[in-house]
Parts: sequence; structure tokens; C-alpha cells
Amino acid sequence: MPILSLQRVRKDYITDGDPVPALREVSLDVAPGEFVALMGPSGCGKSTLLNLAGAMDFPTSGAVLIDGVDTSALNDAGLTRLRREKIGFIFQSFQLLPALSVAENVELPLMLAGRPEARQTALDRLRQVEMEAFAARLPYQLSGGQMQRVAIARALAPAPKLLLADEPTGNLDSSTGETILQLLRRIARQGTAIVMATHSAEAANITDTVVRLRDGRVEAIAAPCPA
Ligand SMILES: Nc1ncnc2c1ncn2[C@@H]1O[C@H](COP(=O)(O)OP(=O)(O)OP(=O)(O)O)[C@@H](O)[C@H]1O
Ligand SMILES: [Mg+2]
Repeated sequence: MPILSLQRVRKDYITDGDPVPALREVSLDVAPGEFVALMGPSGCGKSTLLNLAGAMDFPTSGAVLIDGVDTSALNDAGLTRLRREKIGFIFQSFQLLPALSVAENVELPLMLAGRPEARQTALDRLRQVEMEAFAARLPYQLSGGQMQRVAIARALAPAPKLLLADEPTGNLDSSTGETILQLLRRIARQGTAIVMATHSAEAANITDTVVRLRDGRVEAIAAPCPA
């Protein structure tokens, strides 16, 4: 069963009374552990698709299934649980909480989910991204690449099956971006599916699948050949 399934999804935003179509009849399945790059020009619908895939927003028509569950069928409590247990998010701007230490940032989603041994799990995740030595630092004391690794550790803390990434290397230089892509590659191999919106050309060479969007439609789906 796919971890994520979009079935003839349409999304219209209403602005000034006129619906703006952001996605039109998009169908897409993502398998467990699959690493998908979502590419295409600005405004083609990448972030919209990620918001729907994360149950942060809902389709105008069609269905979004996460681990077999239709997001439009859940109440607020069900949605909160789904997001906490199944989905991790990372963003271009990292979005770490500035007043919390590195370890506390990673611990927070575990505490919200009522998981025992939050601190130990947080340190394990930090080790996974090679940031354990920075556990006591505050976010402003880190480089961009280090902040993104902490954000990845935080997203992975509750062991989600699906990691959604919106331009995770967009604020990084190309060599740091490459390191982050390699880290995501490793995480997908360990079984977490990743859907990543990106403008990075290298991303196409490191993922299992490239989905090209144009004007809210899937233009092409390709499994790139290894270089
Ligand atoms: N909240 C919103 N209200 C109205 N229109 C929106 C909203 N969010 C996005 N749109 C519109 O939907 C379309 C798709 O936007 P989206 O943010 O998904 O693009 P994107 O592919 O992520 O672009 P970028 O590469 O610039 O991040 C655009 O035409 C955009 O203007
Ligand atoms: Mg976007």
C-alpha cells in the first residue's frame, strides 16, 4: 500500500471571489521508503501539494490518502494524531524555536506526543544527523546546514513514515545542500518516504522518482538513471 496517495486531486484557492486553480487532477502514489523530488517552475503547485500531503489543507475535489486514511474524513483530533505520528516536515527556513536548545527543539514533538524517554530519543536522532555534539547550543549558534540537520532530526523524532520537505536546500550553499540531500537519501533508504519540493538540479540525480509539475498538472514522472 502506498504511504501517500493523491487521487485526482484538485485544489482551488479562492481570492477576490475567483477560484485560482493550484492543482488540477493530480494523481500520484508514493511507496514506503521512496524518495520523490517534486520539481517545476514557481507557482506550479509544489507547496500546495505538500500542504495537502501533510493534511495541513484539503483538496477541493479528489482524495488524499495517508497510509490508507482519507484526510478529508478525519476530525481535528484524528488529524492531529495523523500529523504527529505519521508525518514529519522540514522547511527552507528551518523553523527551529530560537529560545530552545538543539536537544529541546528535537525533544518537543516527542513531549507533545506524550512519548516516554523523549530526551534519549532526541539525542539518538541528533546522532543520526551527526549533531549530537551540538545538543546544548541555541539555534543562532549554528550554521545553516547544521540548523537544517537539527530540523531533520526534529522531523524524524517521532519516526514518521512520511517526510515532507519544502525546498530544504533553498537557503544553503550548494556543497552544504549536497550534504543535506545525501542525508535525506540515507533516511529514505532506512524506510522513510520523502517528498521534496526543490529547484535543485542535483536533486534529480539522488532521488528515486522525479515528478514534474506544470500549471498544477503532472507533466512527467521519471525514475532517473544513476549517473
Ligand atoms: N493561500 C493561497 N491563496 C491563494 N492562492 C494561493 C495560495 N497559495 C498558493 N496560491 C497560488 O497557487 C499556485 C501554486 O502555488 P504554490 O505555492 O503551490 O507554488 P510552488 O510550486 O510551491 O512555487 P514556488 O516554487 O515559488 O515555491 C500559485 O498560483 C499561487 O499563487
Ligand atoms: Mg513553494
